[in-house]
This record gives sequence, C-alpha cells and structure tokens, in this order.
Amino acid sequence: MVKIAPSILSADFVNLERDIKKVSSADYLHVDVMDGCFVPNLTIGIPVVKSIRQCTDMFLDVHLMIDKPVRYIEDFAKAGADLLSVHLEADHPTQIAQALKVMGECGVKKAVALRPITSANAILPYIEELDMVLVMTVEPGFGGQSFMESQLETIRQVRAIIEKYHPTCELEVDGGIAPKTAPLVVEAGANVLVAGSAVYGKEDIPAAIAALRV
Ligand code: DX5
Ligand code: ZN
Repeated sequence: MVKIAPSILSADFVNLERDIKKVSSADYLHVDVMDGCFVPNLTIGIPVVKSIRQCTDMFLDVHLMIDKPVRYIEDFAKAGADLLSVHLEADHPTQIAQALKVMGECGVKKAVALRPITSANAILPYIEELDMVLVMTVEPGFGGQSFMESQLETIRQVRAIIEKYHPTCELEVDGGIAPKTAPLVVEAGANVLVAGSAVYGKEDIPAAIAALRV
C-alpha cells in the first residue's frame, strides 16, 4: 500500500491548522525545514513543529534540509517529530551516524535523504538501522518544481539495496509528485509519496490525495 505525505510547504501558513486538518485522509504529514544554507530558502523550525504537534495526531515526517543537523535532532524530537530525515550531504559521515544515534536515543524514527546528485550506494553504511530512505526527485529548496525523471534509476537502486539489507525500510520520494508521476515512482519502488502542490494546489484536497494512491 502506497502512503501519501502532503507537504505543508504548499499550505496557507495563516491557516495552518485548518490546512493540516484538510489532509487528515493522508498517511503522514511532511514538514520541510530549511536553513538558508543547505538550501537557498528559509522555512520553518522547532517552534512551528511544536505547534503543529499540538493540533494534530498525524505522523510528523520532518525533512531537515539543514547543515550539520546533529545539532538539532534532540530539539526536533522534543518538539514532537515522529521521524527525522537528515541529508547525507549535510555533514561528514561520522556526524550523520551520530545524528542517527541521537534519533534512536530520542525514540524518533530514522531516515536519510539524498539530493539528486548523490548515488544510491551512499545509504549502505546506514541501511540496517534506517526506517526510511528519502530520494529527492527535484533539487531540494522549493515546492512546485518539475519531477526529474533521471531519479527513477536511483529509486530502483535504493529499492534493490532495501530489499537486500532491510526490507521493512520505507522508500519515500519528494518533489514533483503528481497523478502523472506517481505511477512511475511506485513502479520504480517508492512506497511513500510526498506531494505539496499536487495536494494543496487543488480545490478538492481529499480527491487530490486519492488521485495519488496508485
Ligand atoms: C522541496 C521539498 C518538498 C516540496 C515538494 O525541497 O522537500 O517537500 O514541498 O513540493 P512539490 O510536491 O510541489 O514538488
Ligand atoms: Zn520535503
């Protein structure tokens, strides 16, 4: 069964609680944290995650697009994240391992994320302890970009690594997911689909979520 994770990056921040309630038929709530360094954009941080936690019971899938994320793992866990994704490009491998260790100590689920330039093999040192791998299908930083078809091969390779070393690990894709691209990523091996504009850009949000379930 494919899971849908609407990204609140495309929600109306004035009416965030209302917009979170609108996606209650989805599986996860995807929260994009950007620091203006790892990516050329700034979004939301720890206080907002804490406020979101107070208005929903949904599973909070928090995507950290920040440099040296190990500094903030404990804070995001305390704020109420259920899962944290750290980018493999955001620090030295020893520090990525440390970030995953802290996630374990804090009781949050562990994920690593890959920019389009990063090869699938980069997950090998961590795969056995991961709950999810996030493959970006756009350059991280902004919603509403076009899906990169070249990432289908990375999704296939990550799926093969997961099947070999840790079959219960989830494979999430993020960027340009819409009713046209969803079947392609699912066929390549993804089982969690993030969607921002394809959900919040539509009038009928429950129908938009249903349209992504392939
Ligand atoms: C982009 C973010 C995405 C973004 C996706 O860096 O990680 O989660 O919200 O937006 P869409 O679905 O519009 O491409
Ligand atoms: Zn994201």
